[in-house]
Amino acid sequence: MNQFGGNWTEAKMEIVVAYAKAYLTIMNKQSWVKTLYFDGFAGSGSIGINDYEESIKGTALRILEIKNPKPFDIYYFVEKDEKNKLALETTINAKYFGKNAHVVQADCNAKLLDMANYLITHKNFRALVFIDPYGMTVNWQSIEALKDLGIDLWILVPTGLGVNRLLKNDSDISDAWLNKLEKFLGLPRQYIIDHFYKRKDVNTLFGIETQISKEKDIVNKIGDLYTERLKTVFKYVSESFVMKNSTNSIMYHFMMATNKPAGLTIANDVIKPKYKL
Ligand SMILES: C[S@@+](CC[C@H](N)C(=O)[O-])C[C@H]1O[C@@H](n2cnc3c(N)ncnc32)[C@H](O)[C@@H]1O
Repeated sequence: MNQFGGNWTEAKMEIVVAYAKAYLTIMNKQSWVKTLYFDGFAGSGSIGINDYEESIKGTALRILEIKNPKPFDIYYFVEKDEKNKLALETTINAKYFGKNAHVVQADCNAKLLDMANYLITHKNFRALVFIDPYGMTVNWQSIEALKDLGIDLWILVPTGLGVNRLLKNDSDISDAWLNKLEKFLGLPRQYIIDHFYKRKDVNTLFGIETQISKEKDIVNKIGDLYTERLKTVFKYVSESFVMKNSTNSIMYHFMMATNKPAGLTIANDVIKPKYKL
């Protein structure tokens, strides 16, 4: 079972489900199109609340329950943890029998590449992709592989909880963390440093000293950079639904990338009512 992260967990699921319904309404008008729902971090099917004493349905099951205007033709759920994978599979076999649903125990990065290859050879398929990691698990290379394909991608970007934690205040970042930032953003380390830190020469008693400081509003700046990165792969990227913790610190930016203007409009429409949370 996965653990509940507050109001925003519910909001995130509602956004994806609302988008999926609108998406299927559009796809329903194109009879030649087959639809694939790909969930790269599917979870166990339920999310624990109140110290796991109660649980609510996870996104995977909510998506499987959509009947109107029609269900997806194929569901592909990726989950790395064996226990979670088995739990999700068991629930699907028991309660959602008859759906064309596949549950695989694998790394999302590998399966994103497999899905891209599948879509290249199955031109009549369109995919709605949901990427819901806790941390910086998705490599930029996996996102880049989705270029020019019929994909609408919802992605949870760990701006505050991931990237910002690696961008140390004094810019003295270890080699391992710089590698992680490079892999996640698909950018060279010098670009990343220059983008997020300011240098200022100041006169001191002992001569000129270069002071380095982090840019202001850094977490939103990380969100903006990820949006720009997505725009190199997809034509349009939505506004972000910004998720904060109880102390008002930003944890994640949740955004949608698509090649269709209608997808962009719908994404912004489903995000907007959630801003006030
Ligand atoms: C935030 S939870 C997903 C919650 C789920 N989307 C829902 O709405 O119920 C993240 C899940 O990703 C799984 N996970 C972690 N690393 C992974 C990876 N590299 N590939 C696939 N799944 C992974 C974890 O075991 C965990 O169940």
